[in-house]
Amino acid sequence: MNAYRIVEVPAPAAADVTPTPAYLAISEIEAEHGRETVGHEDLADPPERLVAAAVPQRHSRHIHLIAVSDDVTDQPSEPAQVLGVASLDLPMDDNTHFAELWIGVRAAHRRRGIGRELWRAAEEHVLSHGRTTVAGWSAHGGEATEAEEAVHAESGVGRIRAADAAAIFARRLGFTLEQTERQSTLRLPIDPQTLQAWRLEAQSVAGQDYRLVQWVGRTPERWLEEMAELNRRMSTDVPMADLDMQEESWDAGRVSDYDDRRELRGMQTVLSAAEHVPTGVLAAYTFVVLPRDKPEVAYQENTLVRAEHRGNRLGLLVKAANVEQLADRFPQVRRIHTWNAGENEHMLAINIRMGFQVAAVEGAWQLRLTPRG
Ligand SMILES: CC(C)(COP(=O)(O)OP(=O)(O)OC[C@H]1O[C@@H](n2cnc3c(N)ncnc32)[C@H](O)[C@@H]1OP(=O)(O)O)[C@@H](O)C(=O)NCCC(=O)NCCS
Repeated sequence: MNAYRIVEVPAPAAADVTPTPAYLAISEIEAEHGRETVGHEDLADPPERLVAAAVPQRHSRHIHLIAVSDDVTDQPSEPAQVLGVASLDLPMDDNTHFAELWIGVRAAHRRRGIGRELWRAAEEHVLSHGRTTVAGWSAHGGEATEAEEAVHAESGVGRIRAADAAAIFARRLGFTLEQTERQSTLRLPIDPQTLQAWRLEAQSVAGQDYRLVQWVGRTPERWLEEMAELNRRMSTDVPMADLDMQEESWDAGRVSDYDDRRELRGMQTVLSAAEHVPTGVLAAYTFVVLPRDKPEVAYQENTLVRAEHRGNRLGLLVKAANVEQLADRFPQVRRIHTWNAGENEHMLAINIRMGFQVAAVEGAWQLRLTPRG
């Protein structure tokens, strides 16, 4: 007999509505998971951010399915009535075959079949939205050691402990480990002279054809088209192993819509790019986002050097310059968290040089479903 059932959380009408107990619970589940894997809550979404992200909008759809105790008739009135969550993210502009999934069950309610029931409900949604590939990322305190039984990434690199609950769970459901990502953290402040020395070294290799362009907040009108092109390339040029993700379609309108979304979610962008002066294109960029609710934290987002401009130290140039800009404008930030594919050697080399320390490893799991006839 099940003492729980699965219900869908209604999408909020606006980004600033008060979070319902369901959103409070999802945030608690993410925070508990953070404490278990990395020992902190820096990576968990507060309820207000979850609400803002779940408002229906053009480019992607977020669905939260929750397992509630069976005394709940409709929606929970207390966060404690929520035992677990399955969060789905469905891209709408491109990759309409794809769904991203995360399942979390409160530690006190695991091994009761709740995770599997959440997956069954999520699979229904995935198929009814015409999606045939599902991928999910699991977090682990570290890679499997040589002495431990491991699951090896099929198409990328890295190994996850076979005995970790997430690995057992994902494999039982039929998912394959395709890739691993390193989650690393850079602790701030860094000596300003060291940062400046990195930037000057990189600028001297890059030469006078490249000039730094920086901003905080929304993308200036002048760079919207360039940002669209950089974001498109980010979807094709980053190592993806056999994760079934296709090229994203970007235009200036989508760049601007994403700026709106970040603002609604309480995230501020801090960006550094390198303009190739003779052609006026942005040859490289990197940006971090700062959550207003966690003033000591920054999340590293995209970093990319266009293929035709690689080998000119632009990666180090934009990254060092962006940390300088961050230290100058937001000196309260103490930690930058970043994620890199295990096989992304050039990016990892820059991060290691800058002092990023590995904090966790994530497994990228994928399952291909048979479409409904
Ligand atoms: C992974 C997680 C969601 C599993 O939830 P759960 O409710 O405990 O899972 P279920 O009870 O439905 O178990 C489903 C299957 O996985 C197996 N399983 C799950 N956790 C296990 C563990 N720790 N040890 C052995 N088997 C385990 C179950 O035996 C069951 O197999 P079966 O149906 O063939 O008997 C839960 O441990 C969790 O929330 N972990 C933290 C978040 C996370 O890592 N999410 C996964 C992202 S991919």
